[in-house]
Amino acid sequence: MMYKTIFKCRYILAVMVFCALGQVRAQKTSFQPGKLWFDNNQRLINAHGGGVLYHEGKYYWFGEHKGEQSNAAWVGVTCYSSADLYNWEDEGVALAVSKDEDSPIVEGSTIERPKVIYNEETEKFVMYFHLELKGRGYEAAHVGIATSDNPAGPYQFIKNGRVNSGKWPSNMTEGQRTSTDKPDDYEWWTKEWMNAIENGLFVRRDFKAGQMSRDMTLFVDDDHKAYHIYSSEDNLTLHIAELTEDYLDYTGKYIRIEPGGHNEAPAIFKKDGRYFMITSGCTGWDPNAARLLTADHILGQWTLHPNPCVGKDAELTFHSQGTFILPVAGKNDAFIFMADRWRPENPIDGRYVWLPILFEDGMHILQWSNQWDLSVFDQLD
Ligand code: DGJ
Repeated sequence: MMYKTIFKCRYILAVMVFCALGQVRAQKTSFQPGKLWFDNNQRLINAHGGGVLYHEGKYYWFGEHKGEQSNAAWVGVTCYSSADLYNWEDEGVALAVSKDEDSPIVEGSTIERPKVIYNEETEKFVMYFHLELKGRGYEAAHVGIATSDNPAGPYQFIKNGRVNSGKWPSNMTEGQRTSTDKPDDYEWWTKEWMNAIENGLFVRRDFKAGQMSRDMTLFVDDDHKAYHIYSSEDNLTLHIAELTEDYLDYTGKYIRIEPGGHNEAPAIFKKDGRYFMITSGCTGWDPNAARLLTADHILGQWTLHPNPCVGKDAELTFHSQGTFILPVAGKNDAFIFMADRWRPENPIDGRYVWLPILFEDGMHILQWSNQWDLSVFDQLD
């Protein structure tokens, strides 16, 4: 009798363990925004402020490695790969921080929002990221550039700095370029100061040293020209700068968008020849309402539209901040809005909010979904 009971218990235990393992190992078939997301090793995906590159049938997700204590970079940029966007394999560290105190990417510097694009001519993978120098808070406002021969890396750090020094944005008038007022002439946040900002006060201030570059993304257009889109002018104005053919430098051509509009977290996609950009406002790690901008030419006139989010918590972008818009390979007009739910008190616990971009009444919208899969796009095919 006793043996029978022990045997029964063991059997039940074995079944339970088997089921639990099956559960853990089960392939994911949907997105669950805001929920814990594990990689193939059952470890939490650690790729915040990320972006995705699609190359030869595989997606590569790059992001900031975060620890429990600080938002600074102690590891570097991580990479995960996937064939289906739901299940991700850990590819390790794509760009490692340096131990050398003289390196701009030394341990303890700040590396945010890495994005990777592929240059078909040079066959190089090119990574851009927001770099803040160790011990200097957010004042450096640099872009960092690294390259690799392989999508998952390792990436070699090439250079860092401000952007487009000695160049004027093409949509700044002669009067704005030659104005002689100085930042010290104004009290911050007054109407006059805001007016001066809109008229290029900080562009002139940073003309020689180069323009500030913080939150950022990259975009490769159909003609293979690439663009760096970044929050500049103390986060008050977005810039879009054209890159050279090898994607390693700037051509000097750039525009300002929404001067004084306070846009961060730019993410962009192109549909039917039109450019759509979703940004956030500037409230540190706290979420705020997203904004939508459209343009017919990437370096043309951009128009601001209302918040693309609808429904509960729309005014807080569902408690998240955008980082990238991912075009789904093989599907028409299928775009995923990737966002971060930051947890600055325990950065590693930041969550990923991925939502499909839907189309309603001629405009793109984002609405919350606890769980969804790529079939939502089939109705658009
Ligand atoms: C908001 C930005 O979008 C983040 O990437 C990060 O820089 C935080 N600000 C820092 O406060």
